[in-house]
Amino acid sequence: MSHVYLNGQWLPIEKAHVSVLDRGFIFGDGVYEVIPVYNRRVFALEAHLKRLDRSLAGIRLSPPLDAEQWQPIIARLVQETETDDSSIYIQITRGVAPRDHAFPANTQATVFAMAKPMTAVPEEWLSQGIKVVTHEDNRWLHCDLKTTALLANVLLRQYAVDHKAVECILIRDGFVTEGAASNIIVVHEEQLLFPPRNHLILPGITYDLVIELAKKHGIPFKEAPVTRSQLQEASELLMTSSTREIVPITEMDGKKVGAGVPGPLFRELLSLYQGLK
Ligand code: PDD
Repeated sequence: MSHVYLNGQWLPIEKAHVSVLDRGFIFGDGVYEVIPVYNRRVFALEAHLKRLDRSLAGIRLSPPLDAEQWQPIIARLVQETETDDSSIYIQITRGVAPRDHAFPANTQATVFAMAKPMTAVPEEWLSQGIKVVTHEDNRWLHCDLKTTALLANVLLRQYAVDHKAVECILIRDGFVTEGAASNIIVVHEEQLLFPPRNHLILPGITYDLVIELAKKHGIPFKEAPVTRSQLQEASELLMTSSTREIVPITEMDGKKVGAGVPGPLFRELLSLYQGLK
């Protein structure tokens, strides 16, 4: 039977409870990670744990566990899941305290981790591509932190669903930032354009791996601001995330992207990415 990890205890998920005064519940005062597991092997663990520490530092919460302490917890989650491919979800909040915005004194962080079977990317997403819509990026200015305060992302993803699209591409002051729950890579004039790593986007682990692949295999790329017109002129558009890997976007705001079918750079990058597993 699979269990979840909560504050040092292993419990069936129905028995895992947190207080209504948990600051994660009250304020969204916490951070999280989603780590893919392929064939019971954790993928890019070091990079995910490094980003978790970076997010914790960003919200001024000291890491309750270090990489060595995470190791056996993650190993048990992986071992107990029913499927060989899964994803590990980790959430750390500032803990339980009487409701007050400012940090509580001497409160223990709440630490939660669970595994869930990986949902396969639908075959037609890869063979035909997905539809997306664009929207003004109306989130806060610390999108580089992976915080559980995801209300804006939730509303933006729902905006996409309401428009029969899979994802919403966000644009701030005329420049592409990222997706509601993914990074976006734009192919423009035969070059991969990566919206730059700054406070406006999450430094995606998949985004980083695709940059490494481009470097290694001589695919021209640039980390540079991407304008709305470059986005509209793109010959290919790619969505990346740890759970969806690389997905081709073939329709944006009701118009074809490039030829309207998944392109050659998508196919090349996906096959290179699969080789990393
Ligand atoms: N989200 N940007 C945002 C806003 C995201 O939420 C995600 C991933 C990414 C891609 O990052 P990575 O390649 O490291 O998964 C970019 C995860 C999967 C989620 O919230 O479920």
